[in-house]
Amino acid sequence: MPCTEQNEYASHVHELRVELAERSYPILIGAGLCDEFARHFQNRCANNRHAIIVYDQQIAALAQSIGRQLEGSDRRVSLIDVPSGEQSKSVDSLQSLWQRMLHERTDRGSVVVAVGGGVIGDLAGFAAASYARGIPLVQVPTTLLSQVDSSVGGKTGINLPAAKNIVGAFWQPSLVVIDTQTLQTLPDREYISGLAEVVKYGVILLPELFEFLEQNAEQVLERKPQALAYIVRQSCLAKAQVVQEDERETGGRRAILNYGHTFAHAIEATAGYGRWLHGEAVAMGMHMAAHLARLLGRVDEAWVGRQAQLLKRLRLPWLLPDADEPTLWAAMQHDKKVMHAALRFVLPIGNLGKVELVSGISQQQVYQAIRSASQEH
Ligand code: NAD
Ligand code: GLY
Repeated sequence: MPCTEQNEYASHVHELRVELAERSYPILIGAGLCDEFARHFQNRCANNRHAIIVYDQQIAALAQSIGRQLEGSDRRVSLIDVPSGEQSKSVDSLQSLWQRMLHERTDRGSVVVAVGGGVIGDLAGFAAASYARGIPLVQVPTTLLSQVDSSVGGKTGINLPAAKNIVGAFWQPSLVVIDTQTLQTLPDREYISGLAEVVKYGVILLPELFEFLEQNAEQVLERKPQALAYIVRQSCLAKAQVVQEDERETGGRRAILNYGHTFAHAIEATAGYGRWLHGEAVAMGMHMAAHLARLLGRVDEAWVGRQAQLLKRLRLPWLLPDADEPTLWAAMQHDKKVMHAALRFVLPIGNLGKVELVSGISQQQVYQAIRSASQEH
């Protein structure tokens, strides 16, 4: 079923809906939406009189502004700051968040408002999913990656020291408010890294988004408001559509969102977390996946070159320096898509916009794909 799209509010607010029966919710997208946050919140959370705003310390001013608006609309507000960075997705941070929520007299009439990137969304989302066996959640994503990916779809969770995202829950938000204006303060490297996920949606589902990126790379890199509005909207449409088809990743469909990710997770793990940003590793992983697809006769040389050109134009790294096949292969064996000890890869087929989950690929083929992807294209 296609994701429904409507324009209910003022013209600068674009609304999409994720249709999941009683767990359905709107995604509001627009520049400056956080300036009128209380109105959007009221439309969806009228009965929630207590808001716990969990926010990234880096964007305290935005969180405080949202807090003042909610207080102004006669709500009790608790502001809880969380240090920036992946280390906040830990058992210790979660425990201290639960304690703070208890101290703030959080109950089932409260709502968690997560303001920040994917780290905050995942951590605060899991706190909402688990506290009092589940309280409502509103996502206010402020990085490109979180606006186009992590805030939609209900995956929440934390890391254990030896495994990323291994403890968590599916917990759909009640509302997602995406203010594209917040992206203007994002460091370049973070912004560009997020573009890898946008390229991904173009490859797996939306050739027109891929073409838009090719034709408007400069406007996208300059974060022009109209270009931002388009890429965020299209990405959310694609994500919502896949999530609607396979909410809990049981039917195989949601796995297509992991295009490039089997290689990427191995790249991140073997380089040491923090060396590459996630989107950077995804860009290099998509290049490896494209080479694997070409090796298997699923796409041609021109397809591989076209994707590489776009990654290059968007200033994403696409060649992994010093790629070591055995080390990457070993790390891949921990991939979540491994089923009965067999690796499965999301690979393109034919023209842009179509991928499939493919198993039965040999170690030699993976080695060969990594080798040919590591040479200048
Ligand atoms: P992040 O949350 O660490 O944010 C990146 C950096 O940007 C941080 O330093 C943060 O302080 C800063 N920042 C945030 N908003 C800002 C703003 N508006 N202006 C300036 N700086 C700002 O990283 P991320 O890339 O947003 O998210 C990565 C996390 O998302 C990972 O933990 C990953 O596992 C998770 N993730 C989850 C899903 C999902 O479906 N739940 C999907 C993809 C990724
Ligand atoms: N980011 C992958 C997913 O949401 O399934």
